[in-house]
Parts: sequence; structure tokens; C-alpha cells
Amino acid sequence: MSRSYAKRAFFALRRSFSPSLVTICVALLLGFSLFAFLYSMSQISRVEEEEEKPFFSDQPREDVVEEEQLWDASFGYGYQPCAKPKRGHQAPQDLERYLTLRSNGGLNQMRTGISDMVAVARILNATLVIPQLDKRSFWQDSSTFADIFDELHFIKTLQGDVRIVKELPKGLESVPRARKHFTTWSGMGYYIEIAELWKNYQVIHVPKSDSRLANNDLPLDIQRLRCRALYHALRFSASIENLGKKLVERLRSHGRYIALHLRYEKDMLSFTGCTYGLSESESEELRIMRENTNHWKLKNINSTEQRIGGSCPLTPKEVGIFLKALGYPPSTWIYIASGEIFGGTARLLDLKSRFPNLVFKETIATQEELKTLTEHASQAAALDYIISVESDVFVPSYTGNMARAVEGHRRFLGHRKTISPDRKGLVKIFDKLERGDLEEGPSLSSLITHMHKFRQGAPRKRYGSEPGIKGRARFRTEESFYENPFPECICKKKKPRRT
Ligand SMILES: *[C@@H]1O[C@H](CO)[C@@H](O)[C@H](O)[C@H]1NC(C)=O
Ligand SMILES: *[C@@H]1O[C@H](CO)[C@@H](O)[C@H](O)[C@H]1NC(C)=O
Repeated sequence: MSRSYAKRAFFALRRSFSPSLVTICVALLLGFSLFAFLYSMSQISRVEEEEEKPFFSDQPREDVVEEEQLWDASFGYGYQPCAKPKRGHQAPQDLERYLTLRSNGGLNQMRTGISDMVAVARILNATLVIPQLDKRSFWQDSSTFADIFDELHFIKTLQGDVRIVKELPKGLESVPRARKHFTTWSGMGYYIEIAELWKNYQVIHVPKSDSRLANNDLPLDIQRLRCRALYHALRFSASIENLGKKLVERLRSHGRYIALHLRYEKDMLSFTGCTYGLSESESEELRIMRENTNHWKLKNINSTEQRIGGSCPLTPKEVGIFLKALGYPPSTWIYIASGEIFGGTARLLDLKSRFPNLVFKETIATQEELKTLTEHASQAAALDYIISVESDVFVPSYTGNMARAVEGHRRFLGHRKTISPDRKGLVKIFDKLERGDLEEGPSLSSLITHMHKFRQGAPRKRYGSEPGIKGRARFRTEESFYENPFPECICKKKKPRRT
């Protein structure tokens, strides 16, 4: 490394000096090298006594380097989004066949589900009717499609791919529809069979939209259409976009910021059965919620086993230890993207003591600005989504639909830094801290930094299914298409970028 540096310096000198000056410089350099060589010979006996230090130390040598390592995502260079259709891409046919759908789940489950359905409509040669949104899930949100998304933009952006209409034509409202729960993670063959339904029906209704399309082994054209749908067409409504931009600017005025998706909300803790660090009455409250939620199948959960297996969201305190160990200074601004934290502000004290600049949408926006959002969980989540995608570093405390969608979007836009905590590995460390076998400090820092060297969102192909899993179960273990749309929608740049 130092040799190539010397070489570069030499050539730089040669460019800026006349030949005679170069000769003098070379002579000086040679003379200096000889002196240095003789001096080092005289020191050799001393050096040999000293302990050998590795050339690449884990400890950054300068503060400047460390600062850059914390925020830099330069590994994304050389890749760019590629979601455009291939040449010869045909416009949709104007057939009088319609696909209606109810999109289920929270905001991001709906967004990815709708993107899948855009692709399915294309495969089926169907006209898509603007989806109805889930009003019954935990989110209890009455928002319509047009409340959350820019409806006109959605229709226009996809007009070369799929015909989209706001409503079924009047004459078709009362005709019998084929109601069809599409099988999850289906491929082309399945939908070509489904197309047989057109022989008897003019309208197919789909009551669920999540994960109805396979992650892998689909034509490139279909995969890119999914990216166009999610990243280009499904833009949030103007009021949400504008507020999002405004809040990002407000955060930026303090410098760089981390968006922390702190999934420490009641529903998640209840669903996963994670009660670590909670009081008995809190644990009981979570158990009762789980008991009463019919569509959560698992009722008896051993919290300890969940946590050891890495299946629990990190607690706010654990996130604080984690970020501090990675080297983020206490002055770092952290935006908390989340709903209500279980246990309220008291539960955030350990995190706040390490990072006092902890902010929420409620702290950076005015009440007036948030007025319509407070009753609409999906719109509030959309705001968190924008701020998270735009952040310098994104850290999810748990892998859910939101974390996956944000990570994928950041990869698409240029591999912006996303640090995914290795929860299983971290729990072992946190337990050592708890027992007093380890202390916060340089050794913990190097341990955690090392553990997360390759978990920062650098370019890589999407993971396939876990080995040894056969049949349909393997789909569940595949990395989601929207978590990492590489290689289909992320391509190498043709010409290397000049620096
Ligand atoms: C959709 O239309 C194209 C073009 O006419 C045709 O080749 C394809 O088989 C159709 N797909 C289905 C599923 O009917
Ligand atoms: C939960 O699992 C842990 C670890 O396997 C075990 O020690 C504990 O007894 C279990 N608790 C219950 C209530 O079964």
C-alpha cells in the first residue's frame, strides 16, 4: 500500500517538475532510502524484540477513517437500477377481463403484494382495478388507495405494462366473479392455468395479495415489472411525499442520521412471544393479546428459546449497546421509525442515555403537520418509510416487511448502507455482558464490528432457499425478491464512473 502510494507521488512529481528537477528528486529519494535502510538495519535487533503487530489492524488508525467507515457506502459504486422493459416490450391488450383485489396486511405487505399483482395482471392479460386496502388488520386503517398513493401516477407509470382502471365498468359490477385465493409463491405455470378461468368469467377477484408470486425463476421482464411497480409507480400521495421530504431536510440540517426501525411494539412482542426484560404483568398482557388474536397460530411460546434462536426484536437497550459498539458517537442523530414503543418512554432511557439525539416524527414535525396521520397507521408508516429510505444508515431491530422493503429499496437506489444486526450472535454477547463476563469497551466493540463486517447491505445476489429443505416449504426460506432485487433490477454500470 505504501509502495504504490510512493509510486503515485513520484509520478505526480514527474508531471509537475522539469526533467532536471526530476533527476534531483530521484537522487534525493535514493539518498534518503539508503539512509533509511542503514538506520533500520541498526534498529533490527530492537524491532525483533517487540511483538509483531498485524498490518491491517481492526482498530482504525485515524478518527477520519473511522468517521467515513461509519457512514460510507462506497461499495455500492458500479451498480445502478435497471428496471426498464426490454426492447420490443408490448403494450397491454385491451381485453375486457378484470382483476379485482383486496390487499391484505400492513403498509409494506400491501405495497409488495400490489406490485406482485401488477405482474400477475400482466401475465393474465388482465386489466387491474385499483386495489382495495386492508381495513381490518391490526392497523385498523380506513385509508383508501388514493389516500396513501398517487393514484394517477400509478396508472400512468404502468400504462405500457398493464391497463389499470379506478373501478370496474358499471355493466360488470353485478356479474359473477371467480373468487380465487392464489397459491403463495406461484410461478408462470400456475398463472397460465389460472388464465383458463377467463373461459367462464370476465372478472377474477383475489381476496389476498401478499406473496402470491415466486421470488425466483420468473422471466426477467416480469421481475423488472415488479420493480417498476414498487419503486416507480407506487409513489406515496403528494401530501405524504412532501411532508417526508420536509422532515428529511429537517433531520439533515443536523448532519447525517441513522434511521432505526425499532420494532418494539406491542403486536410484534406479543406475536413473537418475546418477554425478555419485561415485567410479569407486561408479559401477561402480551400473552393475553396473543391468546385473543385468532390468526396467530402459535400460542405457547418459550421466550428464552425464541431469544436464543435470534427470533426476538432487539430491545431498545440492546440497540444502544450495539450502535455504540459499532462506533457511532453519542452525538449521532437517530430517527426512530416505529409505532408506539411498548412500555413507553421509560423503556427508551438506556438507549437515550447513550444517544441523547433520539427523535421521532412527533419531535421533528408539528402537530399540525401530523394531524391527518395520527388516525391512519398506514400513512404514518409511509412517512417512516420515506425517512428510512433516505437515511444515511438504516438499522432494523427485527426483520419484518418494513425492514425488508426498506433494505431492498436502498439496495436498488445504490446500495445505501443497511446494517442488519446478527441477533443470534448478539444475544450471546449481551448475555455475557449481563453475567459480567464482558464489559462495554474496545474488546466488545471489535467483537461486534467484526461480526457485522459483511452485514451492511453491500451488493450480492439474492439468497436462495436454505439447503436441505424440499417442496413448497423452501419458498419460505428464500430471501424475498423485494429484500434484494439483485440481479434482475440492479445492474453493473456500462462505463466505470470517473472520479
Ligand atoms: C396473453 O396474451 C399474449 C399475446 O396475445 C399471449 O401470447 C399469451 O398467451 C396470453 N397469456 C395468457 C395467460 O393468456
Ligand atoms: C424455556 O426454555 C429454556 C431453555 O431451553 C428452559 O430452560 C426453560 O425451562 C423453558 N421454560 C419453560 C417455561 O418451559
